[in-house]
Amino acid sequence: MNDPALIDSLRAAVAARPDDHRLRLHLAELLLGAGRGAEAVGEAATVLAGDPQNAAARAVMAAAIGAPAAPAAPADPAPAADPAPRPGASPDWAAWERDLGEVVPAGYAVDDDAEPVAGEQDRMFDVEQSGVRLSDVGGLVDVKKRLELSFLGPLRNPELRSLYRKSLRGGLLLYGPPGCGKTFLARAVAGEMGARLINLSIVDVLNMWIGSSERNLHEIFQAARRNAPCVVFLDEIDALGHKRSQMASSAMRTLVNQLLAELDGMDGDNEGVFVLAATNAPWDVDPALRRPGRFDRTVLVLPPDAPARTAILQRLLRDRPIEGIDLKRIVAATEDYSGADLSHLCDTAAEYAMHDSITSGEVRQMRQGDFDHALREVRPSTGAWLSSSRNVVAYGNEDGTYDDLAAYLKKRRML
Ligand SMILES: Nc1ncnc2c1ncn2[C@@H]1O[C@H](COP(=O)(O)OP(=O)(O)OP(=O)(O)O)[C@@H](O)[C@H]1O
Ligand SMILES: [Mg+2]
Repeated sequence: MNDPALIDSLRAAVAARPDDHRLRLHLAELLLGAGRGAEAVGEAATVLAGDPQNAAARAVMAAAIGAPAAPAAPADPAPAADPAPRPGASPDWAAWERDLGEVVPAGYAVDDDAEPVAGEQDRMFDVEQSGVRLSDVGGLVDVKKRLELSFLGPLRNPELRSLYRKSLRGGLLLYGPPGCGKTFLARAVAGEMGARLINLSIVDVLNMWIGSSERNLHEIFQAARRNAPCVVFLDEIDALGHKRSQMASSAMRTLVNQLLAELDGMDGDNEGVFVLAATNAPWDVDPALRRPGRFDRTVLVLPPDAPARTAILQRLLRDRPIEGIDLKRIVAATEDYSGADLSHLCDTAAEYAMHDSITSGEVRQMRQGDFDHALREVRPSTGAWLSSSRNVVAYGNEDGTYDDLAAYLKKRRML
């Protein structure tokens, strides 16, 4: 009874009574019986959103997802008035979860003892696990949101990933002034998902392996695939991604081509491999690298704004002996300071307090005076980058890649 008219009228009824789960499930089952699995999944997902434990909805979902090519029970298309799973159409839900579990091990977000499955070979790439979490990264709200959308969310939700056919791969290119947390953020991403991080400075790749760099780049990606879910972090990507046309050496050109091939996963499955890259000079990065599926997003990592500076300073001062610190005043005095500058500021203030303690023989807390003193010495370091980026934004932003940066510079009246 694959009756499209019946399905249509049922759909109208569901539209009129969107909260009627039984009715919606009835529609879902009809759709499933009619071989319209994708639509059935949509209806079942709506039911599950309101009632996550609904067994019938789960059964429809599993039947549709588990056997997309062979719609369930075409020989038994009779619509069940009862939303309970039909015998025969009911899949082995547990087996389905187990299958997914193999793709992405469960518990990665909290499993701190997971041992890297590192063979001898992987050790040379420093497959590390990071203790830094995203909550340790101050500010960068938009960047975190983007990471959550494109990778962390899908990683934590295998069922939904399967529902939306969202692949667990991709890449972000982080750019911005020095010291604002690009490298720190990459470590936090790895820490967040309990995943492994292969941290790779391109300059090192070039230096270490002159002559066999492509093969080694391939090895690195193979190691990442073996260790999936895994983040490959390519620091200083501009050293490698330099516009191919500008490249003097053909050896470099082949290396870029190798990177493109690895990002495309031509030679292996990149599922579970997320590539983060960082640069201070995105304008030097080969545009071919920014094609969708490679570094499909270019994300600006800016100097921390006031709330972000507050968060960073609080974290930096968390374990230090302080008294009478006027955090607001320090935050107000540190516009344009990068995270690294703030860290340097706190170290310098600590030095003053320590020096005082040593000379007086009496251990004292860090005070506001130490910070006022340090503020005179430690200056913000992001200004040079921001002013040098002005020209690029003014003359090289036809495709809108640097709109974020342009907006920031305008807001700061630097453009
Ligand atoms: N947003 C932030 N939140 C907390 N700490 C930060 C932040 N930004 C920077 N830091 C601190 O500054 C240090 C340096 O930052 P990081 O190395 O990540 O900068 P970067 O953007 O990679 O710089 P570069 O472009 O020079 O490589 C970090 O180790 C961290 O301690
Ligand atoms: Mg860095």
